[in-house]
Amino acid sequence: MPATVIDHPLVQHKLTHMRMKETPTQDFRRLLREISHLLCYEVTRNLELTTTRIETPLMETESPVLAGKKLVFASILRAGNGLLEGMLELVPSARVAHIGLYRDPKTLEAVEYYFKAPAQMDERLTIVVDPMLATANSAIAAVERLKKRGANRMVFVCLLAAPEGVERFSKAHPDVPIFTASIDDGLNEKSYILPGLGDAGDRMYGTK
Ligand code: PRP
Ligand code: URA
Repeated sequence: MPATVIDHPLVQHKLTHMRMKETPTQDFRRLLREISHLLCYEVTRNLELTTTRIETPLMETESPVLAGKKLVFASILRAGNGLLEGMLELVPSARVAHIGLYRDPKTLEAVEYYFKAPAQMDERLTIVVDPMLATANSAIAAVERLKKRGANRMVFVCLLAAPEGVERFSKAHPDVPIFTASIDDGLNEKSYILPGLGDAGDRMYGTK
C-alpha cells in the first residue's frame, strides 16, 4: 500500500524549518507540535460519527459526535512523543500507548525497553506516531507488538519516510496505511534519512 503524502502548504513550510540545521531546539519542538495538529486533522478525516441529542440556547437538535470507543495514539519513544503531545491537544480524550524502542546503532535492530497499552485494543483505532521511518525496523516492531496486544485497526503517521522504509513497512504490514509529510531521497551509510532532518530525538530534546 503506497504512503499518503500530506502535502498541505503549511506542513511543507514548517517541515522546511525543521530540516534547517540552525533551527534551535525550542523552535524544532514548537514546529513539530504545530505539524502534529495538521497531520492529526488529515489522519482523522474519516473517523466515524454518530449523533447525540443536545439543547442549544434556542432549541433541541441532533448533533454529530465521534462514534465508538476512544481512539489510541501509540507513541514510539522518544521522538514519537513530539507528535503525540500535539495530537492529544486535538483529541484530548484519546488513550495512549507507549512503546519504548531504540535503534541499535550497529545492527539497526529495534530494541524494546518499555511497553504499556490501554485495554480493549481490538475495539479501537490505533494511530501509531513516530517522526522518522528510516529502515522501518522500529515501526515494524512497534506495530507487531501492538498487534500481539490485540490492535487490529492501525495507521502509521510520520514526518519523514525513506522509500526503503515505506517498502519494507508495507511488505511487513500491508494492512497498515502510512501517512507522511515527505518521502525523502533515501538513506545514508548509517541509515539516516537524506536530506532528512538529523536525529529527531536529539533535535527535540537537545541531547548530543
Ligand atoms: C529514531 C526514530 C525512529 C527510528 C527510525 O529513534 O524516532 O524510532 O529512529 O529508524 P528506523 O526506521 O531505522 O528504525 P531512535 O532509535 O533514534 O530513538 P529515540 O527516539 O529514543 O532518539
Ligand atoms: N532516526 C532519526 O532520528 N533520523 C533518521 O534520519 C533516521 C533514524
